Amino acid sequence: MAKEPVRVLVTGASGQIGYALVPMIARGVMLGLDQPVILHMLDIPLAAEALHGVKIELVDAAFPLLKGVVATTDVVEACTGVNIAVMVGGFPRKEGMERKDVMSKNVAIYKSQASALEKYAAANCKVLVVANPANTNALILKEFALSISEKNITCLTRLDHNRALGQVSERLSVLVSDVKNVIIWGNHSSTQYPDVNHATVKTPAGEKPVRVLVANDEWLNGEFITTVQQRDVAIIKARKLSSALSAASSACDHIHDWVLGTPEGTWVSMGVYSDGSYNWLNFPIEIKNGSGGLCFVGAQLPFSCLFMTSTSMSEQTGSRLI
Ligand code: NAD
Ligand code: LMR
Repeated sequence: MAKEPVRVLVTGASGQIGYALVPMIARGVMLGLDQPVILHMLDIPLAAEALHGVKIELVDAAFPLLKGVVATTDVVEACTGVNIAVMVGGFPRKEGMERKDVMSKNVAIYKSQASALEKYAAANCKVLVVANPANTNALILKEFALSISEKNITCLTRLDHNRALGQVSERLSVLVSDVKNVIIWGNHSSTQYPDVNHATVKTPAGEKPVRVLVANDEWLNGEFITTVQQRDVAIIKARKLSSALSAASSACDHIHDWVLGTPEGTWVSMGVYSDGSYNWLNFPIEIKNGSGGLCFVGAQLPFSCLFMTSTSMSEQTGSRLI
């Protein structure tokens, strides 16, 4: 029997990431090749015409899984009945603006979107915040959507996780799909800590630790870390625009694994609410049996790793403004 369609909201849908993301969702990359979807796309009135253009292209692409498109500038219409919300829209940082100026604009945006989600989204709606500063925006959303469980509000660090997998794969000339269990600790910012201490590579002789195969601690403790931390800068320098296709693809990976589960013994990095003193941070997460439940694997890691984490965490407090 055909599945009921899942309603997926993308805010900022006519922007760079939105334009790359909506066809991926409509093709089944996010929720599976047997899962029909109805796309809800929100943008601001200034972008209404561009949003209409995206809708036209979605119709023209004739995606078999796409059962409907809601393209709107009305936040209530956008949020009504959605099962998954990917929050990409946000106020862009302009020349001369301080980070706190963007924050204050985002508070207003995320306040209204949080209360619309709280009132009109489907029960148990899963929320992924992509817009920067992603960890802080997720926290703002949580503060203004008190009836949504904090377990259902996450932010994107899968892009950093995928960047780390890509670096190891290139260094060792192995398939990226054979590398697993890197971890990104900290915020989605240049102070994040990409960690390969538990990462492995599948080889004909079984799984081998990345540290053993790379056998070059200088690279792993230096260039590898800075490359992942500063990948955003490298992309902006080359494209004159920030990452979009990799961000969209990683957002699909994040929701895919959250809904459908991670393979046994594999974890992924997600920004989740921490009830300790650090609020929103990235943690390695294993999702069992596609239950959608988050299982923090940090407790299974050795003390040295947790110690390193707490060092990295304490560096984050300055960027946690709210
Ligand atoms: P963009 O400027 O191309 O698109 C942003 C879109 O959001 C625009 O269409 C804009 O009109 C819309 N928007 C602005 N205010 C809105 C509101 N109140 N409601 C709905 N839509 C609104 O930007 P982009 O390149 O698509 O990036 C989007 C965000 O994602 C940025 O904040 C960027 O920094 C962030 N980002 C995060 C990651 C990550 O890994 N977490 C990676 C890449 C980019
Ligand atoms: C990235 O990691 O590529 C983005 O967060 C960069 C940005 O500021 O949009």
